[in-house]
Amino acid sequence: MSKQLWKARTHIITRGERIFALAETCSHFSGPLAEGKLICNSIVCPHHNSRFSLEDGRVLGQMIATSVGATTMGRGCDTAILDDPVSADQAVSDAERTTANTWIDATLRSRLNDPARGAIIVVMQRLHELDATGFLLEQEPGVWTHVRLPLVAEEDETWTFPFSGRVVQRKAGDILMPERFTPEVVEQQRARRLVFAGQYHKGRHRSKGI
Ligand code: FES
Repeated sequence: MSKQLWKARTHIITRGERIFALAETCSHFSGPLAEGKLICNSIVCPHHNSRFSLEDGRVLGQMIATSVGATTMGRGCDTAILDDPVSADQAVSDAERTTANTWIDATLRSRLNDPARGAIIVVMQRLHELDATGFLLEQEPGVWTHVRLPLVAEEDETWTFPFSGRVVQRKAGDILMPERFTPEVVEQQRARRLVFAGQYHKGRHRSKGI
């Protein structure tokens, strides 16, 4: 329940037994915080999606989505997550790949609030030896932590999740998602030799692009 107190320009929000008072507008650019969505004990400003704690008004974070080549002017971040920066058909074009790699290098990288402590995470299937992953690894050897997960494990692997401590072991020959990629499906994919080497075995092909 949300109720406005006009004189104080304060909103009262009740959550179960608890009562919270918060400013009517958000501390970023005075967005109409009172119209925000409630998530647990926080409220999300409808203007730029900053999330504020109902307990003490702290900014709890914000997620901004954009696309490769789009403007990021005026926006900073602590962590940038880049998901498949180019499609399979874009990856075979030198021009498209170079545009994406230049945007990552020149624009996205400059958006980290704290370049010394911020992180850029690139999640992608390998599509070309100089796609974003290939480009970053070649340009800055030893700087990036490279996590390579082939569809079919090539050797025994042990992966430990850094926060939960969960350990996942793969034996050579284990398939990553066997419920989706059955052995028959893997064999069908393997017949498409170059695609299999690149997309499913993470950059093992030497495609040069056009
Ligand atoms: S105005 Fe509220 S998050 Fe920007």
